[in-house]
Amino acid sequence: MLTVRPDTSLDPELLAAIVREQGTPTYVYDARILDAGVRRWIEAVGDPSHICYAVKANYNLGVLARLASHGIGFEASTVGEMARTLAAGVQAGRIVLGGVPKPAEAVAEGVRRGLDLVVLQAQHEVEAAVRAGDSLEGPPARVGLRVRPGIRAGAHPSLETGRADAKFGFGPAEIPATWAALAGAKGVEPTTLAFHLGSGLDSFEPYEGAIDVLLGLVQELASAGHRVRELDLGGGLGVAYGGTGTDLEPADLVRIVRERLEGTDLAVRYEPGRSIAARAGTLVTRVLYRRERDGHPALVCDGEFTDFGRYSLYGAQHRIEPLEGTLEGSDTVEVLGPTCESGDKLGTDRPLHGVRPGDLLAVRDVGAYGFVMASNYNARPRPAEILVDDEGWKVVRERETLEDLWRGETVD
Ligand SMILES: Cc1ncc(COP(=O)(O)O)c(C=O)c1O
Repeated sequence: MLTVRPDTSLDPELLAAIVREQGTPTYVYDARILDAGVRRWIEAVGDPSHICYAVKANYNLGVLARLASHGIGFEASTVGEMARTLAAGVQAGRIVLGGVPKPAEAVAEGVRRGLDLVVLQAQHEVEAAVRAGDSLEGPPARVGLRVRPGIRAGAHPSLETGRADAKFGFGPAEIPATWAALAGAKGVEPTTLAFHLGSGLDSFEPYEGAIDVLLGLVQELASAGHRVRELDLGGGLGVAYGGTGTDLEPADLVRIVRERLEGTDLAVRYEPGRSIAARAGTLVTRVLYRRERDGHPALVCDGEFTDFGRYSLYGAQHRIEPLEGTLEGSDTVEVLGPTCESGDKLGTDRPLHGVRPGDLLAVRDVGAYGFVMASNYNARPRPAEILVDDEGWKVVRERETLEDLWRGETVD
């Protein structure tokens, strides 16, 4: 494991210049850090088509197009994510419709579109795939089954998805009959067993246990005459947001997986999101004022939990750094947003004592599950998104206008 690499290329001067033009709060992504994130995976895995970036982590079209230039695949969990990925210029044959709960129409759409793979995780999805496959004229649609391996991932409870009590996937005992039903259908071809254990894992151990569950199923299916061609291991690698821990390395995961699968001819697919996008993003916010709260100083900023919700949702403590001025003393402050909720925080216990009203703060490592989770609560337009590369920077999503806030509504 390597120690944390801070995203030094998004330097304070550049960020300050961007928000002088674009205002705050603004998300800024560094394309070179996105590139580095993908390359780490390609070096570890080899074939880029076995890496399917989880679109939900950051689906800005500019980001998707940059990632697509590396030849990787994409995992979309909804028809909306699939449409965005297609809009970014990615061919349908490079997209997986992932194993998250979906309506029957979404499954049918995935089957009809000729995606690389459609992962099914409930009985109504299996029935929808079989029905849609029946009316296909070309080759059968490749489908997979998501397994709920009953493994605790050690992540935040809201982000654990492979536990026995999770809502996702089929229990191992349900797999043989479900696979057999798919194998007997004319328009679909079952190829893949999948899991996704959770997001933000800080050890590889859960993967080992879950792979063993899948291997048991591969054997059981083989003894009934069915061949599994591929395992899809989902995403999950965590990022040490606070700046002091370590990031899990794709190469270490791949080594463990290869050891586990030695002697089999199974292909392996990975669906990383956070580990590719998180470190590429910074949210720049301006301090509105400073307030003493029962002796605890707080900075109230113009960026709030509706712009960046990871502290409020998961207690995630991201690095928060001043863009201007110097830090004085070691006293810590809370960093708050302006909404009418006391839980509206960007972070706590930050050594930002010298920061004054009007100063800019950089919330780091927000490239994954940042803007995509933003909302318009309090009727606030969502922030602009900027992409920086060697050529300079460009707006890849304009800040919303006030009119955007009521588009489609009517007073009649
Ligand atoms: C099915 C699936 N695959 C991949 C991912 C990506 O996970 P991560 O961003 O932790 O790598 C998710 C995230 O929730 C998911 O649900």
